Amino acid sequence: MIRNKGIKGTTPFGIYIHWPYCISKCPYCDFYSQVRKDINQENIIDDYIKELNFYHQLTSTETVSSIFFGGGTPSLISPLLIEKIINHIIKTWHTQKNIEISLEANPNTDKKNLFKDLKRAGINRLSLGVQALNEQDLRFLGRTHSLTDALKSIDTVLQTFENHSMDLIYARPEQKLSTWEKELEQAANFGFKHLSLYQLTIEEGTTFAKKQIQTLDEQTARQLFNFTNNYLKKQNYKHYEVSNYAQPQYESKHNLLYWQGNNYIGIGPSAHGRIKTQTHIYATTYRCNLEELTPEERAEELLITGLRLKQGITYDNFEKKCGIKLEQVINPTQKQELERLKFIRSTSNKIYLTRKGLPVMNTILQELIR
Ligand SMILES: C[S@@+](CC[C@H](N)C(=O)[O-])C[C@H]1O[C@@H](n2cnc3c(N)ncnc32)[C@H](O)[C@@H]1O
Ligand code: SF4
Repeated sequence: MIRNKGIKGTTPFGIYIHWPYCISKCPYCDFYSQVRKDINQENIIDDYIKELNFYHQLTSTETVSSIFFGGGTPSLISPLLIEKIINHIIKTWHTQKNIEISLEANPNTDKKNLFKDLKRAGINRLSLGVQALNEQDLRFLGRTHSLTDALKSIDTVLQTFENHSMDLIYARPEQKLSTWEKELEQAANFGFKHLSLYQLTIEEGTTFAKKQIQTLDEQTARQLFNFTNNYLKKQNYKHYEVSNYAQPQYESKHNLLYWQGNNYIGIGPSAHGRIKTQTHIYATTYRCNLEELTPEERAEELLITGLRLKQGITYDNFEKKCGIKLEQVINPTQKQELERLKFIRSTSNKIYLTRKGLPVMNTILQELIR
């Protein structure tokens, strides 16, 4: 039984809990998830608690700044079991006073009092997966909720939580700028503290890929992206990561922690973690597997995740998080060329993607990495 909380840490540290079950499989989604009814939630949560205990041995000096229940569909977990996990974490680790505890919810799981019960269980940030604000596109995306379900859930989330976020998928095939303008305006008017707006990608192995669904042409997709950024700026949302927008002080603490290269552990199938100790860097995977990473491997990951942030990567933080200098992983000739073409910019202490570079981040990374 673990009761030694260790020394109190000051840098952010997060715990991700992955719930891999869904009511149905959406045709665009390649996240690891299963459609199953015959599961024993109590047993799974007991296993998760064992995993938490294992990782505590490596991270007892950390102070938990965020917990994130992601999926799959974690709003299918009984709120009593959510509470059990949260209480276990609080008993086992030091936790920050203003700890962020998020949960992803689907509108079709919004049963009577669910959101109130989740709040009572300790969730203080609710992220709602709405995906589209019209019936036709909800059906195209294979969502099991209707627009009426979505609007009802939005209303309940906004009334129940002080910190909330909504996910939408845009740049759908054939989507016009004029229709997205109206949808985005409606989304911003709800007043969510945070919006995650992802352009549709067609992932290998998904139903959309099998049906050869095509993404929106590049030029229109860029127009939609630029409009989104300009419009949300006027609505007081800060564009702080490629697909994420927040009202002041409402960036997702948990996601920032990944992008800035801080330590976190992941519990559940397909969850992963990264732990840097004084002497080693570990990648953690399901059922307490630890695999050692070289500083170079971690450095490459940090370049990929760090450039997602509008503020980019600071050289000092980079070296602190992986043990080697940024210059060691980027190609200097390509860096110069990308700067000349105004895709990236760098100063004496940081490097970041420009507005021109952000939408083509993946291509830039391929060029930049040595
Ligand atoms: C873990 S997933 C799903 C969370 C939750 N189960 C739901 O469906 O709302 C997190 C988000 O990734 C986004 N997403 C998943 N697959 C995507 C794709 N192929 N293209 C764009 N966005 C995607 C969706 O907006 C989704 O809400
Ligand atoms: S998008 Fe969400 S609900 Fe749909 S399959 Fe993926 S995780 Fe499950």
